[in-house]
Amino acid sequence: MLFSYDMLVSRSRTLPPEYIPRELVPAAFPFAAALNDPKRLMEPEAAKNAALLFAHCTQAHGMALYGISAYRSYQRQAVLYGRNPESLYVAPPGASEHQTGLALDLSCPSAGMELTDRFASSPEGRCLLQHAPLYGFILRYPKGKENITGYPWEPWHIRYVTKSLAIYLDTAGLTLEEYHALSAVQDASTAPSAVP
Ligand code: DAL
Ligand code: ZN
Repeated sequence: MLFSYDMLVSRSRTLPPEYIPRELVPAAFPFAAALNDPKRLMEPEAAKNAALLFAHCTQAHGMALYGISAYRSYQRQAVLYGRNPESLYVAPPGASEHQTGLALDLSCPSAGMELTDRFASSPEGRCLLQHAPLYGFILRYPKGKENITGYPWEPWHIRYVTKSLAIYLDTAGLTLEEYHALSAVQDASTAPSAVP
């Protein structure tokens, strides 16, 4: 699968084990992990915009946001999945967009620094929901779209898609799956018809 900021990775659109992002850089914002932990890594443009999002929520709104997990290799995802294959929250290896370096899980002290539904009602979770699209991120697994995304609601998981696409998806209330389905319909309707 070719890299693009709107690339779709899901239970049915999986990445091969050898897929590794071309470049990964460490997060330049507060992160609940050791300095050399690969989970701090992100694709460079996603990392830059995540740092801007953090700076805004922290400086303008006094939030205490922390990164919990960003990049995960196929092999790391296989370990996590192997520990908990029944969990609907853990993607099978190849089906996690954390493998792209474009995804980021967040939490805050008032949610126990955990990936929990409680994060959604914390001031940090609400600030994130409000401002993420302005920095190019969408809430990837929204409530009510579980049948479309294939994953339960995850108020802590954001995905970088660029600012213009994030604002569009947020305004239109579309998931990345719905966007790709619509794009496919549009491509088909605008494709040149066969010349007899
Ligand atoms: N929790 C998300 C779906 C993942 O494992 O990538
Ligand atoms: Zn995640």
